[in-house]
Amino acid sequence: MKITYYGHSCFGITTKTSSLLFDPFIRPNELAKKIEVDKIPCDYMLISHGHEDHVADALEIAKRTNSRIVSNFEIVSWFEKQGINQIHPMNIGGEWNFDFGSVRMVNAVHSSVLPDGTYGGNPGGFLLNIEGKQIYYAGDTALHMDMKLIAELWKPDIAFLPIGDNFTMGINDARIASDFIDCNEIIGMHYDTFPYIVIDREKAIQTFKKSNKKLTLINIGDSINF
Ligand code: NI
Ligand code: MN
Repeated sequence: MKITYYGHSCFGITTKTSSLLFDPFIRPNELAKKIEVDKIPCDYMLISHGHEDHVADALEIAKRTNSRIVSNFEIVSWFEKQGINQIHPMNIGGEWNFDFGSVRMVNAVHSSVLPDGTYGGNPGGFLLNIEGKQIYYAGDTALHMDMKLIAELWKPDIAFLPIGDNFTMGINDARIASDFIDCNEIIGMHYDTFPYIVIDREKAIQTFKKSNKKLTLINIGDSINF
């Protein structure tokens, strides 16, 4: 499968059958100016929580692509009120088999409110099983002990972890999180977008390297094969 980075916490995953898009925040992101939002493919849009920096372009992309929005009950209901009828409500601990693979919603320690002040339910992350690969998309979260459950129940081959600090885990906590989930292949997210979350990229990569782990920081607009 192919992973494309659209900046901040927004990634596309292209599987054999579907295009998945996570937490779209592109038009307001100064670092993602070259991304052509109206060309992003999307069959399923997975949203971790309601904050603006995770939903900014969701409505526009969902309307253009007629994609299905997968998120917690409160967030999909908010989109439904705005005319999106392809929705799939979930909540923490639940799992569902989609045509591209399975999705389980897991705990995140953070907050969640939608841009207009509507209650956004509990923040979450996603564990996906696609084409025999297990993928953990952490969303916005602190380091927390429930991550150890992920290693017990699953075995992520790759994990998308926030590393920007201030609003989420920073580099050191993300490195510990990678131990908790027993995963050596990490994709960094939620860094550099705002002054509060600017990181030292080389220091971040070295922090993981010292633990024999690989942190990949994909350039915005680039893709990697996985
Ligand atoms: Ni957030
Ligand atoms: Mn955020």
